[in-house]
Amino acid sequence: MEAPASTVYLKDYRPPSFLIPEVVLDIDLQSEDEALVQATLAVRRNPEGAASGTLVLDLDEVAVEAVAIDGEPLVPARWQADARHLTIRDVPESFRLATRSRIHPRRNTKLMGIYTSSTGFFSLCEAEGFRRITPFLDRPDVMARYTVTLHADEERYPVLLANGNLEAQGAEGGGRHWARWVDPFPKPSYLFAVVAARLDREQDSFRTRSGRSVLLQFFVEPGKLDQGRFALDALKQAMKWDEERYGLEVDLDEYNVVAVGDFNAGAMENKGLNIFNTKLVLARADISTDGDFNFIDRTVAHEYFHNWTGNRVTCRDWFQLALKEGLTVFREQQYAGDRYSRAVARIQAVRNLRTGQFPEDAGPMAHPVRPAAYQQVSNFYTATVYQKGAELVRMMHTLVGPENFRKGIALYFRLHDGHAVTTDALVEAIEQASGADLGQFRLWYEQAGTPRLAVRDRYDEATHTYELTVTQSCPPTPGQPTKQALHIPLAVGLLGPNGREFALRVEGEKNGRGTSTVLSLRGETEVFRFLDVPARPVPSLARNFSAPVLVDYPYDEDALQLLLGYDSDPFNRWEAGQRLAMDLLLVGVADFRAGRPVQFPDYLAQAFGRVLADAEQDPAFAAEALSLPPEVVVAEQLQEIDPLAVHRVRFAMRTFLAERLHDAFQGAYERYETPGAYSPDAVSAGRRALRNLSLAFLMDLGAPTTRQRAVRQLETATNMTDALAALSALANCDCPERRVALDAFYAKWQDEPLVVDKWLATEALSRLPGTVERVRDLTLHPAFTLQNPNKVYALLGSFGVNQVNFHAADGSGYRLMTEQALLLDAVNPQVASRMVRNFERYGRFEPVRRDLMRAALEQIAAKPGLSRETAEVVGKALA
Ligand code: ARG
Ligand code: ZN
Repeated sequence: MEAPASTVYLKDYRPPSFLIPEVVLDIDLQSEDEALVQATLAVRRNPEGAASGTLVLDLDEVAVEAVAIDGEPLVPARWQADARHLTIRDVPESFRLATRSRIHPRRNTKLMGIYTSSTGFFSLCEAEGFRRITPFLDRPDVMARYTVTLHADEERYPVLLANGNLEAQGAEGGGRHWARWVDPFPKPSYLFAVVAARLDREQDSFRTRSGRSVLLQFFVEPGKLDQGRFALDALKQAMKWDEERYGLEVDLDEYNVVAVGDFNAGAMENKGLNIFNTKLVLARADISTDGDFNFIDRTVAHEYFHNWTGNRVTCRDWFQLALKEGLTVFREQQYAGDRYSRAVARIQAVRNLRTGQFPEDAGPMAHPVRPAAYQQVSNFYTATVYQKGAELVRMMHTLVGPENFRKGIALYFRLHDGHAVTTDALVEAIEQASGADLGQFRLWYEQAGTPRLAVRDRYDEATHTYELTVTQSCPPTPGQPTKQALHIPLAVGLLGPNGREFALRVEGEKNGRGTSTVLSLRGETEVFRFLDVPARPVPSLARNFSAPVLVDYPYDEDALQLLLGYDSDPFNRWEAGQRLAMDLLLVGVADFRAGRPVQFPDYLAQAFGRVLADAEQDPAFAAEALSLPPEVVVAEQLQEIDPLAVHRVRFAMRTFLAERLHDAFQGAYERYETPGAYSPDAVSAGRRALRNLSLAFLMDLGAPTTRQRAVRQLETATNMTDALAALSALANCDCPERRVALDAFYAKWQDEPLVVDKWLATEALSRLPGTVERVRDLTLHPAFTLQNPNKVYALLGSFGVNQVNFHAADGSGYRLMTEQALLLDAVNPQVASRMVRNFERYGRFEPVRRDLMRAALEQIAAKPGLSRETAEVVGKALA
């Protein structure tokens, strides 16, 4: 059993007592079972740290065999290794520390540190994996220059890679070879990486705007080179974009990217040696969807952008994770907005926030973007740190404007390049460069919870004055019973009765502001007065989602239809459609639970019909606007969640719309067939999205002709987007075609692991009865294994978001998840704790499910030997 988890606090941060400016590593990969790691560290006291004669290095599942200082072997009395630390007494001011240790890559099922995957050895060190390779001060404020020599069997592992530049390589006895890599940039240990494997290589180059040529290499599993080209092109686009948008150039001579099928994360920005989960790098039209192409493009860019925002300027400690992730996600969003539809990119980002981050922020794991405490940092790679972290950067961008923001980022690099800093460093730089006062804004980094804005208005006919009164509040979150008022940018416009927008003149401000303005909300309640407003307007609030908040305003259906039709802000056009549907869904859920009939008004069909009729202008936008709010987002609005009620009512709304708009959906299905060769560009993808959305609506009516259409689409599709859309539609249809389609799909793609993942997910997401048993059977299927995170996420991760079947009222879904999570916990605790998070919000559910979910958590908590990762989640959930 592991020692009970202890909490680490931000307020306890102390600079390290020692620094390690240089690391020389020799890693001898003797076999899959064992590697010999010899480290020589230049160590010296840190003048800024507390004076100490004892050096305590972190370690984890590393067997230390010998320790020497300045070439002198230490007697065992001078050093001592326990499960977590190597302690060395009476060390001098400055010395060379040599350690020799052994690690066991094949036994490393946690996939942190060095581990094996089908074609060789790979690594992942963020956040605390380096200590699983060699004893070290494994914290990001200890930055070192690394020289790494790898040894391995030449035939089995022809490719040897580490960070930086290849300095020398050669053969050695016994059919083995070696390679030495030198990274000229000091870096924190979490950016360390090595690879020794059999891989195919695709090569290209990028010419920077200052004229340097950078070698780009992509390494993929043998035979998969044709799936690497898209990502390689994306990398070049991202490099160019960062030069143009931010003036940032790649600083390396060589930039390598490796794909691996076993990986705990999506991808990792190791300096000069990015390692990617295959699912976020390999792409080909017949096996990847439009969504995959888009996600791959953005992730390649994300990891590249980290080279500046994360690697050149890094985090002082892990409480500052959002410093690099929030800023890098924001940059990734800007990139996606420039390359795809800006409006659709924004809509998708906000939908993600609402489905992932808002529930987290309202649950027992709620934490500020800069957490104040954690037990396991691996549990804090969260939607809050990433997505809300990006929203915070976006709000600063909105408050100071794009020019000042860019200046702020330039200043940030000027001041902090090469250093490990806190989130304050970023805020301060933007503040200094812009002259804005972000003092109150900093609270966003410290306060958890989703703020709510209550907006009320008044129009004075006599004076033509329009008044908006905005009151902010924020619910209590763990450890934060009361909240202070935040500085919130609220972008607004005012629509006249015919949909035309009024020119804005805010009282107390000299100049008119066009038809859109950003109000700065600072107090708990603020009143904003607009002058010369000719008629009572409909307010367009929080345009482009200007802050990660919930906005309450008593819109009636006429106002929402006006916004949906005419708002010049496309995000708020979409938002109006979501509100229109949401209001009716909430009424429907109340009716359903009270045993009343669930009905929908004509104006809903008319409003959605107009979107469909106007779709030609922007099919991608239309597809977003016609997508009803996700079940979890509806559930979030309820006092007490009844997932089945939410599902039934939402499904009823879908069939209502499918019936009323039957011909229009049918027309769209036919019209938006993409002719010619597949291309993942935004326009083609948008047409496919609308077409497949139309198919899904029509399939809910269950007509045999529609089913045949889906079968035909599945059989004739030349791209995975269309094939998978047809398969998903069939998977949700209780019809004879269903099983045939699912079985044939597996038979066809059983040798493509990434497509098998899509099949597992499609099975697990089905809303039909029998899904729990099916998922249970699939846990025993040869295609499934708990050892591979992608398989776990595909099957169990998808099942966990299945609102009907995971939440089956008899508890069978919960039992299945509990059993699997407990098995998984012994294999890969990081992934297991994510599965267990499916239970954390039990308190929000109706009594039957609440009790069942709580019992599941208690059962998990009682398991002897539970990992620290999972223990933190269940502990907080049950607290
Ligand atoms: N820094 C990586 C990224 O966001 C994520 C690493 C997550 N690590 C993990 N063990 N899950 O780009
Ligand atoms: Zn990242």
